This record gives sequence, structure tokens and C-alpha cells, in this order.
Amino acid sequence: MTPPDSRAWQWLATLGAVTDEPPGLTRTFLSPALARAKDLVAGWMREIGLTVYEDAGANLIGRWEAPDPAAATLVCGSHLDTVRNAGRFDGALGIITGLLAVERAIARGPRHHLEVVAFSDEEGVRFQTTYLGSRAFVDRLGPVERAAVDRAGVSVAAALAAHRPDFPPPPPRRFRAYVEAHIEQGPVLEAENLSLGVVTAIAGQTRARVVLTGEAGHAGTTPMRMRRDALAGAAECITLIESRARAGDGVVATVGQLEIASAASNVIPGTVWFTVDVRDARNVVRQKFCRELFAEIETLASRRGLAVRIEIPLAAPAVPCSPALTAQLAAIVGRRQPRCPQLVSGAGHDAVALSEAMEVAMLFVRCRAGLSHHPNEFAAEADITAAIDVLADFLAECPA
Ligand code: GLV
Ligand code: MN
Ligand code: MN
Repeated sequence: MTPPDSRAWQWLATLGAVTDEPPGLTRTFLSPALARAKDLVAGWMREIGLTVYEDAGANLIGRWEAPDPAAATLVCGSHLDTVRNAGRFDGALGIITGLLAVERAIARGPRHHLEVVAFSDEEGVRFQTTYLGSRAFVDRLGPVERAAVDRAGVSVAAALAAHRPDFPPPPPRRFRAYVEAHIEQGPVLEAENLSLGVVTAIAGQTRARVVLTGEAGHAGTTPMRMRRDALAGAAECITLIESRARAGDGVVATVGQLEIASAASNVIPGTVWFTVDVRDARNVVRQKFCRELFAEIETLASRRGLAVRIEIPLAAPAVPCSPALTAQLAAIVGRRQPRCPQLVSGAGHDAVALSEAMEVAMLFVRCRAGLSHHPNEFAAEADITAAIDVLADFLAECPA
């Protein structure tokens, strides 16, 4: 096994300190910290001999041209944005392992053009949607996503129109495949005492925003029986969502954000919105769950005299990874460890968006206690080194 490349750890630490909200790590779509992080990654791209481009979705692209101009392009990378108060590995690991693997693959004369992409948005924190960067990369950003607005009322379309790219647009190209390394964000590899695994499929997800409207009023003078309290209604919805998901056979559902309009301790909440995130690897199960859940929320709201609006900014189907490329990746992993586990990813990844335009494969890296979307997220340097080795072999050996 190759000795660790100290740049991997240094670059992860450097990126981990680039934040919009210190002392925690937060970088959102087109934010000042995202721009600073892009500058750093662009410098590393140049350092390893790549030409730097930026596309219409503000994705940063480092490209190496193979001698054959007609060759297809093999893409790797991950997202540069984060959740709020994030860990240092989710997203950044795929970009940094991609850079160091591409550098090594170039030395072996690969037949494909190679690209490392730092996607501008995968987490969807700013616009409560997801994959804005990776969908723009494959030209799939539709009117619904473009119209989504952030808390300041700025739309995706307006934010992109106001953005001035720092680098020229990439040349037209034909894609061969996308391969992404990512921390597992789950406990299986650690339990099996293995560094790496491959992904067979990525679970589908629905993200909804539920707006409940009752009537604001005086907290001291309005009798309980005469209230239409939107927050009390939301509380009942949240326990309903949890109990329905608990009763299911694997579907997971989360209310991760909630906001009370004009909140004050002495005002009955008149309008409340909250998010619902529903995931399952089986599309039919997820769709049925959402249909039934949303119908129950409507019934619950009408029983309480609340108006309800349910917006669905994202309904992404489950995505299978390429069986052929996954088998190749697993064979490469198998040269370094006794077995290569095949995992289903419950988390979403840029590979989901890219799968609409090319074959995708994913490599999972063991992380401590399965913890992710948390500042204590951790992957060991030896496992990261193993991921770079495997990716480098994959990029150099991938069939045309
Ligand atoms: C992305 O990390 C997601 O799965 O929400
Ligand atoms: Mn994430
Ligand atoms: Mn991620």
C-alpha cells in the first residue's frame, strides 16, 4: 500500500476551516465561503496540472486532456457545499481524493480525458432543494428548481444570473462515466472492519415544505377553544410523520427545519412552515408513503381549521449504480482488502444527478461510528489513502 499523501489530510483541514458561520463549518450555494473554497481548490487543480473551468451552475472543473482528442471524459469529484455545522469529510473527501487520484492516473497515461469537479450545491441548504450544482453540470436544471427561493426571497435563477464566474466555461465534451468517493455516512464498514465498499444503488428522496396557516392572536386573551394555532398543528404533524415512518419497514422520514412567522412568546403562531425529508431505496414504497402521509396531514389540518399548502421541491428516484463499473471498482478494492461489501446508500449524492447523463459508480470510505452531518465526522488517513489508490487504478484502467 502507498504511504499516505500528506496533501490529502492538509487539504481536508484547510477546506474544513473555510466557513460562512464560524466556529462551525457551513458553506452554502454561492456563499462567500464557497467562493473562497473554490479558489483554494482551483489552486490545487493547477498544482497537479489541470486546466480550470467553471460551468453555468458555478461548478468548478479541473480537466486533463488525453492525447486522443476524440476520447470520452471520465469524471470524478463531489460537492463543495456543506450542511450547517458540518463535518470536514462529506463532499470534500470526494474532491480531494479525486484530485490526488487524477494526478496519479495521469502519470500512467489514461485513455480518457479526466475531470475533477467540485459541485456548487448538493446539500440543498440554501434553497431547500438539492443537486443544484450536479444537475446544472448535466444541463438538467429545470424551471421548478430555478424558481426555488431562499429565505431572502432570491431565486436560484436570480442567484446564478448575479454570479460572475472566475474561470472560462468548459469545452463541449462526451462523458464516459462518473465515479465518486464518499464517506459511508453509516456504520457497516466500521462494523466489518474494512476500509472500503462499493455502492449498488442510492436511495430516492422526497423533500417537501409544509406551510400551515391558522390565525395569529393574543396569547393571554384568546380562549383555547377559539384558537387556530399553526404551531400546535405542526407539532401534531411531526409526531404523525415519526410514527408513520416507525411503523414502516425501512422508510425514513425527518422534519429537519421549522420556522414560525413573526414568532413571539405572547403571540399564538399564525403561520408555520416545516420541511419533510423522506427516503427509501424502493421508489414505490417512498411514493406511497408520501401520498398517504400528505393526505393525513391535510385531514389533520382541516380538523384544526388550518389551511395547508404542501410544496415538493424535490422528488428524486432511487438510482442504480452501473453494475459493470461497480464490479470493476469492487475488483480493484478486492486487491487491497479481503472482501468488498456492496452497500445501498441512504444518503443522496451528486452521482444521482449525473446518472441522468452517464453511468455512475461510487466508492464508500469507512467513517467513525457512522457519524455524518455532524462536526465530529471522521475518516482515518489510512482509509483515505486506500480510496486514492483505488480511484487512481479505476481512472487508469476504466475501459473505453
Ligand atoms: C445529502 O447529504 C443528503 O443525503 O441529504
Ligand atoms: Mn451531506
Ligand atoms: Mn455528501
